[in-house]
Amino acid sequence: AEEFSLRPHTLGQYIGQTTVKENLRVFIEAATMREESLDHVLLYGPPGLGKTTLAMIIANEMGVQLRTTSGPAIERPGDLAAILTALEPGDVLFIDEIHRLPRAVEEVLYPAMEDFFLDIVIGKGPSARSIKLDLPPFTLVGATTRAGMLSAPLRDRFGVMSRLEYYTEPELREIVLRTADVMEVEIMNDASYEVARRSRGTPRIANRLLRRIRDFAQVKGDGSISSFITNEALDLLQVDKLGLDDIDHKLLKAMIERFRGGPVGLDTIAATIGEESHTIEDVYEPYLLQIGFIQRTPRGRIVTPAAYQHFHMEVPQ
Ligand code: ADE
Repeated sequence: AEEFSLRPHTLGQYIGQTTVKENLRVFIEAATMREESLDHVLLYGPPGLGKTTLAMIIANEMGVQLRTTSGPAIERPGDLAAILTALEPGDVLFIDEIHRLPRAVEEVLYPAMEDFFLDIVIGKGPSARSIKLDLPPFTLVGATTRAGMLSAPLRDRFGVMSRLEYYTEPELREIVLRTADVMEVEIMNDASYEVARRSRGTPRIANRLLRRIRDFAQVKGDGSISSFITNEALDLLQVDKLGLDDIDHKLLKAMIERFRGGPVGLDTIAATIGEESHTIEDVYEPYLLQIGFIQRTPRGRIVTPAAYQHFHMEVPQ
């Protein structure tokens, strides 16, 4: 129950992503005035920045139902047909990880998005037939970590494309205060800044850290979140002063100690530290790039002097 109520329900409650929010507000109002379904929306950017939350808010603000699925969950065209034919006019269909839709499913999706009809083949061999089904108008909200991974024809069918950015510290602090309020836990000012600073620009991380810190505050303190408890909890959770965790550390240290700071290829790094290259590319690398700790070069990834300084290590010549 808490998990759900932590999420904002309206654009007004949603903190940050100002440009995305203000654009959506206009498109939602215009569609509502015309009594039309909202154009299809593609949300892209690193994980944990609020793509699912925005899909929920869009449905809520349009006053329609939200149906949620994901790219890998839709294995065959028939799976998609089952979902689309069950929609009511105006509904929002949220497809997470939309870049992982199978090719054959994607092709069924094109006419569904563009003209609200399904063209599917039933049966096999000589008795196979193609049937056309009309669909209710709907809004597809697609989410992906990287828009570049979508095929061009799919990308072209979204009327709205919004990139979510890492949150600023003041925005994250606001989210931390809001979450603490929803969780009915007291948090000191300096503690709220500390959590914001150590959340890697990501509300999902801020809220996760806040839950863990609340546990410490409850067991080791009087329940209220002080900066002392916060620092103690985050140190035990191996979250450093910049919010980097043990995997960030492993990654950077492997690049420094085993590859002299690079250039080194993504797959090599992945094999060295025993993580999936996809996870590194989608989850860890974007923030390290953002804070300038690594750079991409045509020959591979390199560690920057800023990262060496963070670890109090000498920058090699
Ligand atoms: N909780 C998580 N993300 C949020 C956001 N962007 N605004 C308000 N509360 C949130």
